[in-house]
Amino acid sequence: MKAIVVTDQAAGTAGMRLVERPEPQAAINDVVVQVHASGFTSGELTWPSTWTDRLARDRTPSIPGQELAGVVTALGYGTTGLSVGQRVFGLSDSYRGGTLAEYAAVEARNLAPLPGDVDFTVGASVAMPGLTAWQGLFVHGRLQAGQSVLVHGAAGAVGSMVTQFAREAGAYVIGTGRVADRQKALDFGAQEFVDIENDVFEDVRGVDLVFDVIGGDITKRSAGVIRPGGTLVTIAGPTEARPADGLTIDFVLVFDRAQLGEIVQRVRDGRLRTNIGNIATLDDAVAAFNPTKRISGKTIIRVRP
Ligand SMILES: NC(=O)c1ccc[n+]([C@@H]2O[C@H](COP(=O)([O-])OP(=O)(O)OC[C@H]3O[C@@H](n4cnc5c(N)ncnc54)[C@H](OP(=O)(O)O)[C@@H]3O)[C@@H](O)[C@H]2O)c1
Repeated sequence: MKAIVVTDQAAGTAGMRLVERPEPQAAINDVVVQVHASGFTSGELTWPSTWTDRLARDRTPSIPGQELAGVVTALGYGTTGLSVGQRVFGLSDSYRGGTLAEYAAVEARNLAPLPGDVDFTVGASVAMPGLTAWQGLFVHGRLQAGQSVLVHGAAGAVGSMVTQFAREAGAYVIGTGRVADRQKALDFGAQEFVDIENDVFEDVRGVDLVFDVIGGDITKRSAGVIRPGGTLVTIAGPTEARPADGLTIDFVLVFDRAQLGEIVQRVRDGRLRTNIGNIATLDDAVAAFNPTKRISGKTIIRVRP
């Protein structure tokens, strides 16, 4: 089968290559998915799990990609809950990746049924950002109606989902990002926008929750805009930053089939818009992940036409 592989961590996305690889086999409780569409988060190439297995042994050449939508073609020994021929979407384990390929072996518990009226491209684009936004706002951030949320990177893949879920939940949303993304963030539902490259976002005061996707200095500065007792949620890694009398939660998403059901229902009934910036074939994937101009939104690889 055709697959994208990486062997050199220092090379980043420039080190991706399209090669022939053997088709994966389904282990106990796995399914094999014929991948129709898949996604990749650039952060993946910095995660140890892309390069080593759980015992820290080199697992290169690795096939990156965790996000996928496709059709089940085989079940592993003992696998229940999914059937051959079923449309599915979800996320492979980070120590496995493997979705930038024609077939991927994935644990069945990491997949959910994909309704027939939701396109594979859309399915592959909502799993990772949708679950991340949902868990950050409602599981970790315990967002309530009437609260205010500052969303960094509000026009990005995760930020646009955070904005839409927060608005639907009755929160007031202030988005941040690059100036070019102002209108896009407002279109996703942000009620205000702060250009964090040129404006001082500390002018915003007393928000209940900050949802950070950027990290570093932005995370540190964010603690100061939160009301005492409020919450800083970040997906950009551990931080010392903490709001006064409040909580900081940095987390990595976990798969949750019920939450994915909530998310896909919102896609079907029009409450949630996905944020796709580019769609490319597997043959063009390496170029798509090394763009010559800035692309806002997710790049999705349409593996099968
Ligand atoms: N912990 C988890 O569970 C988890 C889950 C999903 C994603 N992540 C991580 O979260 C991050 C965001 O993911 P994503 O898929 O939403 O990425 P994305 O689509 O690239 O969105 C990030 C947004 O923030 C903007 N941005 C980044 N740095 C900025 C800066 N210094 N100033 C102004 N705007 C800035 C980006 O603009 P530009 O495109 O112009 O840079 C983009 O609009 C990634 O690092 C990803 O690896 C973590």
